[in-house]
Amino acid sequence: MILEPERLDGLRALFAQNFGLPSPSLLSRAPGRVNLIGEHTDYNGLPVFPMALQRNVAYLLRPRTDARVRLVNRDRRYGTREFAISDAIEPFAQGDWGNYVKAAAQKLASRFELRCGFDAAVDGNVPLAAGLSSSSATLVGALLALMRVNGLELPLAELQELAAQAERYVGVAGGGMDQAISLGGRAQHALVIDFAPVRMQPTRMPGDWRFVVSNTLVMAEKSGAAREAYNARTRECREALERFRAHPDAAGLPDSYYALVHGVALPRLLEIAGHALGGVLLQRFRHVVSEGARVEQARQAMLGGDAAGFGRLMDASHASLREDYEVSSTELDLLVEIARESGALGARLTGAGFGGCSVALCLADDAQRVVDALHRRYYAVRPPFEGEALFVAEASDGARVFEL
Ligand code: GLA
Repeated sequence: MILEPERLDGLRALFAQNFGLPSPSLLSRAPGRVNLIGEHTDYNGLPVFPMALQRNVAYLLRPRTDARVRLVNRDRRYGTREFAISDAIEPFAQGDWGNYVKAAAQKLASRFELRCGFDAAVDGNVPLAAGLSSSSATLVGALLALMRVNGLELPLAELQELAAQAERYVGVAGGGMDQAISLGGRAQHALVIDFAPVRMQPTRMPGDWRFVVSNTLVMAEKSGAAREAYNARTRECREALERFRAHPDAAGLPDSYYALVHGVALPRLLEIAGHALGGVLLQRFRHVVSEGARVEQARQAMLGGDAAGFGRLMDASHASLREDYEVSSTELDLLVEIARESGALGARLTGAGFGGCSVALCLADDAQRVVDALHRRYYAVRPPFEGEALFVAEASDGARVFEL
């Protein structure tokens, strides 16, 4: 199925209303993602372990013969947007959804001559500002659309890198995880992804594992308030690494996080860090190297069908994100606790943190119990809310353009 019939019909009607004939000829669809483990590692050159979701952003579109883009969003709050493509596009206001489309257009225009834009009706069902990469899905969907209407093709790894660079347009010094998994996702698989250059190891998900994603309902706006906190973490990690390397005990050790995690035993790294660093920098360093090491352990656990082991790694990841990296929140901690107490094998915050979602691993037979407990103990005691609170993630294929 290209798109759920209700969404496709809605997009067709919206397109006809706004852009008339001829009918749209293409559909570009890009998924959001949930990261299972490897959090705040990508921008430090260490691997992540996400899967692409069954939730996506879809553009129903018709190519144009000039280099303009016109958009209308099915969600009325987001309205219409229009701009001319160039390699220097003035952004909309900060936080505007249209900036993710501009980001794709500007980046691509800096590499290729773009003669054609498109008219598109846009619909997304990735929960917004929830740490599930609705923004990267928006960017990746636009990127693939622009490439298609201009007859451009790139190898996947280059595209993943380009998409990651493109997103810097919105002012977040992000890593490449969200764009890489949105482009490279695979049904029934989670992917260990390494960076610079992007490398992927698809790992089949055991049939009885379920990942329950539940939303704190506290917005974690990537382009809003959390942006500065996120960017601060990236600076702290860089500084921690510099100081670590400058310490005499680290003489002769490799000089990147990647090489350190892969070449030096973790206890030794932590011992030297204890001498070289203190306070916040020590905490950040400890999170990054321990989380980096957990990714490979988690992959082994998934390959071996060891759900309990995978769950323990998720728990350790959450503790480290809460204590050392300081990106959790009361609500995230509560969701994680409820999931564990009701039968999950492990649970953690997912995405950048500061709100957004948690993810819990449970076996198929226990999933309903976990879902019920989350409803009862979290959502039922909150003010009424719009949208979806929780769902079971289905590992899905990456972004694609379909001819209609
Ligand atoms: C955000 C960024 C990603 C990654 C995560 C944290 O989602 O976009 O690149 O850094 O935070 O793991």
